[in-house]
This record gives sequence, structure tokens and C-alpha cells, in this order.
Amino acid sequence: MASSRSLTVESILILFIICLVFSHNRVEGGKGISRQEEDEDLELERQLKLLNKPAVKSIKTEYGDIYDCVDIKKQPAFDHPLLKNHTIQMKPSSLPKGMINKKSSGIRSSEIGFKNNECPPGTVIIRRTQKEDLTRAKSLVRRSPGNAHRLTKANPGYHLAPVSVQRPDTKYYGANVYFSLYEPKVSANQFSEAVLWVESLFSDKFDSIQVGWTANPKLFGDNRCRLFSYWMSDGFHGKGCYNLLCSGFVQVSRQISFGLTFKNISTYDGPQVEDCWLVFRDPKSGHWWFVLGSTQVGYWPSEIFSDLRTHASSVSSGGEVYGPTNEPSPPMGSGHLPQAFNMRSATLARRFQVVDDKLQLLDPDYNDFKPHPDTPKCYNVLRAFPWGRDIWKNSFLFGGPGGDCGA
Ligand SMILES: *[C@@H]1O[C@H](CO)[C@@H](O)[C@H](O)[C@H]1NC(C)=O
Ligand SMILES: *[C@@H]1O[C@H](CO)[C@@H](O)[C@H](O)[C@H]1NC(C)=O
Repeated sequence: MASSRSLTVESILILFIICLVFSHNRVEGGKGISRQEEDEDLELERQLKLLNKPAVKSIKTEYGDIYDCVDIKKQPAFDHPLLKNHTIQMKPSSLPKGMINKKSSGIRSSEIGFKNNECPPGTVIIRRTQKEDLTRAKSLVRRSPGNAHRLTKANPGYHLAPVSVQRPDTKYYGANVYFSLYEPKVSANQFSEAVLWVESLFSDKFDSIQVGWTANPKLFGDNRCRLFSYWMSDGFHGKGCYNLLCSGFVQVSRQISFGLTFKNISTYDGPQVEDCWLVFRDPKSGHWWFVLGSTQVGYWPSEIFSDLRTHASSVSSGGEVYGPTNEPSPPMGSGHLPQAFNMRSATLARRFQVVDDKLQLLDPDYNDFKPHPDTPKCYNVLRAFPWGRDIWKNSFLFGGPGGDCGA
């Protein structure tokens, strides 16, 4: 009895082990053995190693993101083949003239970024890229720039509500706008943004710099309102990317980096919170600087562009959303259509200005602003205060609920 019982136990154990080995092999056969997936995995590891430079110090945020303090000379930008001999510009040679003291708007600014002493001198702060970030970002498509003003059937799932300034034969050297901050609810495959575009559109070489805030789970793994950028250079055959996911942007700040969350957000019909986005071309170096609030974050070097090396031909600001066409379109901004004279109704793009060749911030004429929402019943853009002056001049409201908006 005893021996037959132990035999049974033994045979069950052996069977169990055989099953384990077998199922393990099955999993291996279904997954790991695939040559293509193995190659893709190796490629991801290679990219991660390239993107994540050795950290002098690392900081983990309350949301679990990791930010690395990286030696400024060893940052990812210098992997770009055209930046091998690049000399870092630590600060712009000058700032645009005519910035208006922001405190007079009465709208609060959001907290964002790290304190000055958190990263040691000689380093810059960069969001560490995780493997999942790359896997998700791989399937993240972005409409090619240049057609913000004539969105076509070639871009299903995208919707835009921007206002553009593009006088014929006029050269622009930057733009400035204050965006109010929202956290639109998007699904795992959608994004919803407020964007400032600075582009050269009117040759066959589209160059584009885009900065703003976004809710984009594919890019960041969650729905939070975060600082983001995107650049593209068509002269180099459409090379470009989000944030620092490829080499190009030269980071100089130890406090603000793409990917950071805005800590304070506006509420629909309630208190408003904003921040200020400025992009301009340094006339001495030709580099395109990005300044958030009063922080000089870094620049896109002149070398990586074609037409943007000298000037931009179009600046726009407003909302952009994307979602697969089998889902209802996501909300933009507050999720409500804008109402004139009610700055709490939608996302405010306040005091939208352009930079001229003398590095002066200018207010374009009212008629130079062309609003072009592609689906106004879902997302609209309009002038916030038709007679607004000073800090309210050329201010726009954009946003909407989305839903069934067509392709
Ligand atoms: C960098 O400098 C080297 C040596 O002067 C030169 O051969 C090379 O072409 C330069 N590379 C770039 C991208 O300018
Ligand atoms: C902004 O958000 C931070 C973090 O949640 C909070 O500590 C701070 O009090 C907020 N500031 C304002 C002015 O609401």
C-alpha cells in the first residue's frame, strides 16, 4: 500500500514536471524562439543603451518616473551624425524683446520641474526612457507636419483646431504663447494636446518644431498633462521624433525636461492655470531655443534642419487630437467647445505673438490669424476677447468634446 501510494505521488510529480517543462518550451517556442522578436528585442536594448546615458545622479518622481542628471557633453544629442563637432551654446545670445510681465494676467502658473540644486553643475536633466516607453512609442504615429492647414483623408483619426499666421513672403523667427493647462481623458491609444508649431512649409522640405502639453499614454504610460516636444526635418528624409527619443535636441536645463508633469491643472469653469511657451531662433547661432516660463530648456541646433536653418514661414497654435477611428474621438482641452468672452470654457492660447528678424515680439494684425478647425462641431477655435488689449490681445480659445467626428 505504502509503496504504491508513494509511487503514485512520484508519478504525479514526474508528470507535473514534464508538463512544466513542456509548457515552458511551448512558451519559448511561441515567443522567444521567434527570430524576428529576438532581433526586435535586441534592437530595443541597443536603443535604450544609446538613449540612456550614464547618470551622475537619478531622481524618482512621485509618479515613478526616473530623471537622470547626465553629463551635458555626453547627452543623446551628440549621437546625431551632424552634431559630432557641435559646440554647446549654454544660453541664448539674447532673448526676444517685448516680453510682457506675466503676473498681470491674474492666471496662476503651474509648478513644474526640479529645484536648481537637485542635479549637479555640469549636468542636464533627462527623463530616463524605459523599454515599455519604446515599445509603446513604436506604434505611435504622428501626422507629418506641413498640412496643419489642410488636414486630409491621408490622416484618419487626427483632428485639429489651430490658428495660423503665415503671411506670404514673411519670415518668422519664433513665437510665444501662454496655454492654459488641462488633463483631457484619453484612452490608451489616443492623445490630446495643446501645441505651438513653428514650421517651414512652403518648399518640399518641411521642417517642424512643435512644443506644448499633452495627455499621451503611448508616450508616457499615463494620462497626465505633460510637457512635450516633437521635431521633424524633411530635408533629412522625415527624420525626427518626440522629446529626446532620438538625437537632436540639446538640453541645457537642470530643472525642466520634456516628459515632466504640470502639477497644477485648470478646471472647467473654475480656476485657471497656465504656462508660457517660447520658441525662437538665436540670430547669432541659428539654433532654435525653447523657453518654458523663465527656464531656458535647450535648443534644436541649426545643423539638423534644412529650411528652418534660416527662418520659419508659418507659426500656429491650438489643439490636436488623435485616436483610432474605431473609437469616439477624444476630448480636446477642457472637453467643452469654446465660448467667446469666457476664458474658463476651453483651453486659452493667450497673447499669441511672433518673433521678427530683429528679435522683437510682435502682435500680428487681427486679419493675419487664420483659424481652421477641421470639424467645428467636435473641436473649435475662436478669438477669446475680440477687443482684448495688452496681455489679452490675440488670445484664442480652443477645444471640444470630440465624439463622433468622422475620420
Ligand atoms: C567634424 O570634424 C572633423 C575633423 O575636422 C571633420 O572631418 C568632420 O567632417 C566634421 N564632421 C561634421 C559633421 O561636421
Ligand atoms: C500645485 O500643485 C502642487 C502639487 O500638487 C501643490 O503642492 C501646490 O500647492 C499647488 N499650487 C497651487 C497654487 O495650487
